[in-house]
Amino acid sequence: MSRIALITGISGQDGAYLSHLLLAKGYEVHGLCPRRGSDTLWRLRELGVHDHVRMIDGDVTDLSSLVRALERSRATEVYNLAAQSFVGISWNQPVLTGQVTGLGAVNVLEAVRMVNPQARIYQASSSEMFGRIQAERQDERTPFYPRSPYGAAKLYAHWMTVNYRESHGLHASSGLLFNHESPLRGIEFVTRKITDAVARIRLGHQRELRLGNLDARRDWGFAGDYVDAMWRMLQQPQPDDYVVATGRTVSVREFCALAFGQVGLRYEDHVVVDPAFLRPAEVDVLLGNPEKAHRVLGWQADTSLEALVAMMVERDLERLAG
Ligand code: GDD
Repeated sequence: MSRIALITGISGQDGAYLSHLLLAKGYEVHGLCPRRGSDTLWRLRELGVHDHVRMIDGDVTDLSSLVRALERSRATEVYNLAAQSFVGISWNQPVLTGQVTGLGAVNVLEAVRMVNPQARIYQASSSEMFGRIQAERQDERTPFYPRSPYGAAKLYAHWMTVNYRESHGLHASSGLLFNHESPLRGIEFVTRKITDAVARIRLGHQRELRLGNLDARRDWGFAGDYVDAMWRMLQQPQPDDYVVATGRTVSVREFCALAFGQVGLRYEDHVVVDPAFLRPAEVDVLLGNPEKAHRVLGWQADTSLEALVAMMVERDLERLAG
């Protein structure tokens, strides 16, 4: 029997890696894709899957387009990765963030309930929901305390996923994913901003890198590992929530040291702290406990932070050289 997936947010980092994984498993992969001017599909091209996924016009803020996409694709697995996913900008666009990141998820749940309630749903929840952390290591039982409009919108989407599971019996699972990076990361996120600057500085295109809070700590993993956890959640007999993380936390400063060190430079010679990149409210530290994902899903983060940094710096050097 052919397995069919519909991915919202297919043009993003996770959408590209998940498409690659599902195609390799023999899935027919459909992507919900808003028509936008610029080349939003470069990530799918980089992974060589662009010609193998079927695009359907639509947007998670438009319920009717989701209904049509589900009818057309006949998807049995739906991965909701669409979001306004940049925390920093969510203070400037709190309403849009709520509409896309929060209500968009409810549109997905509602469309599945209406068209095919047997379909399985993955909701991309976020460690940003832990915000001002209530436990040293965050797991599925840790109370939430979001610190940004983005975190609050994700929390609404998360509880609606739980609610549709409990009210309508949908097979809807939520992945509480900690930060996950790759060479396909957008340049607005701190890791890629750093590795791109490291490559530019190494090649003499720029001298300094302006960043905000260097003391923030994150549990950073490789996105390619994390999409496998998403898929595993939907193969379980019962839907549930899972923390997906590495279990190691590192500061932005330490990330800089690793990335600059990769090309024989010292970050202290190039990084300048610029208050323009500080946030109105910060999430100081995140550290996940992925024990449940390991025990139930048989999942673990295979890629070390050192390997991830090396992969990202190398790819940015190649891009610039090319
Ligand atoms: N973006 C950015 N730019 N962040 C900076 C900078 C800078 O110049 N300087 C310091 N930082 C700090 C931020 O203040 C934050 O504490 C940390 O670096 C990470 O920022 P981001 O890479 O923008 O990621 P995030 O943690 O806010 O959010 C990401 O992870 C979430 C999971 O916890 C995003 O991918 C979210 O969509 C995701 O849900």
